[in-house]
Amino acid sequence: MSLATNYLGFRLPHPFIVGSGPLTDDIDMVRQLEDAGAAAFVLRPLYEEDIVEQQISAFFHSESHHDSFAEATSYSPDPQQAPGPDEYLEHLRRVKDAVDVPVFAALDGHSLGGWTSYARLVEHAGADALELNLYHAASDPKTSGAEVERRMLEIVRNVKGVLHIPVAVKLSPLFTAFAHFAEQLDAAGVDGLTLFSRFHRADIDVKELEVVRTFPLSDSSELLLRLRGVAALAGRLRASLAVSGGVHNVLDAVKATMVGAHVVQMVSALVRNGPDHLRTLRCDLEAWLAENEWSSLEKMRGNMGFDRISDPAAYERSHFRMTLQ
Ligand SMILES: Cc1cc2nc3c(=O)[nH]c(=O)nc-3n(C[C@H](O)[C@H](O)[C@H](O)COP(=O)(O)O)c2cc1C
Repeated sequence: MSLATNYLGFRLPHPFIVGSGPLTDDIDMVRQLEDAGAAAFVLRPLYEEDIVEQQISAFFHSESHHDSFAEATSYSPDPQQAPGPDEYLEHLRRVKDAVDVPVFAALDGHSLGGWTSYARLVEHAGADALELNLYHAASDPKTSGAEVERRMLEIVRNVKGVLHIPVAVKLSPLFTAFAHFAEQLDAAGVDGLTLFSRFHRADIDVKELEVVRTFPLSDSSELLLRLRGVAALAGRLRASLAVSGGVHNVLDAVKATMVGAHVVQMVSALVRNGPDHLRTLRCDLEAWLAENEWSSLEKMRGNMGFDRISDPAAYERSHFRMTLQ
């Protein structure tokens, strides 16, 4: 039974990828995950704020014009929180040395600026592809969605323009016309789209008057939003599609493939169950396909995508009405 799939131009033996999270921080864990069959790894991102901080301190070491770096006032990075750029590149090299499967680096940022030049350093350090997290916490009433999208497209074009390795973009689900923006990213040449980022949860401690931030592990209910997102894009774009969020068991992977995903990225399920869960999922997927008379994973891909439907918006509205009634 073939579970093989193409993602970002790589031929992978199956669709299970280790997503960006704590599991790729530790080289022993990375080796265990590869032994258990991980098809590829996505490292945690290097953040724009950390890159800018390093650029600023390099600048201050060589110049004395303290007010002349435009980006200097916009960020308040906490250097304790994440590795700096040099440590990041070193970690990337160590992961690359440790495994034979593709390793994708990640950069996370939202503004136009010098941080995107790090894409080239990441490529030189051996990344097989780059995942760009374009997370923008849009909350300024004066900035339109069109402006946010224009800026993101420009970042993508800048990065695509200097790299030889494939570039995937990890998106948040918060776009008004999500499929249109995805189509523009596709036209800008992105090689893959990862749906979707998961947000931290911000609650309020009403006694202490504090914002309480948490990032709980997911469950399969997180998958549903991703299924809808991928279904809307499958068969319409050149870019390959990854589901990230809520893949825990074999049926989650089957559903993701049916809507058109080429791979599934997992973090929570592997944190909860350990590396061996990858082995289980792979066996379960082979067994499920055989039982349900699919000759390969590729044959099944996209059989539940929106491109089968003549008017997806009308289809969704009619289901919305029927469900509520
Ligand atoms: C414990 C944990 C830590 C994570 N850390 C990061 C991170 O540092 N940077 C990032 O971009 N995404 C991070 N993620 C998000 C994942 O990359 C991904 O978007 C999503 O969590 C995958 O879904 P899943 O956890 O349902 O498998 C983290 C996820 C988890 C569960």
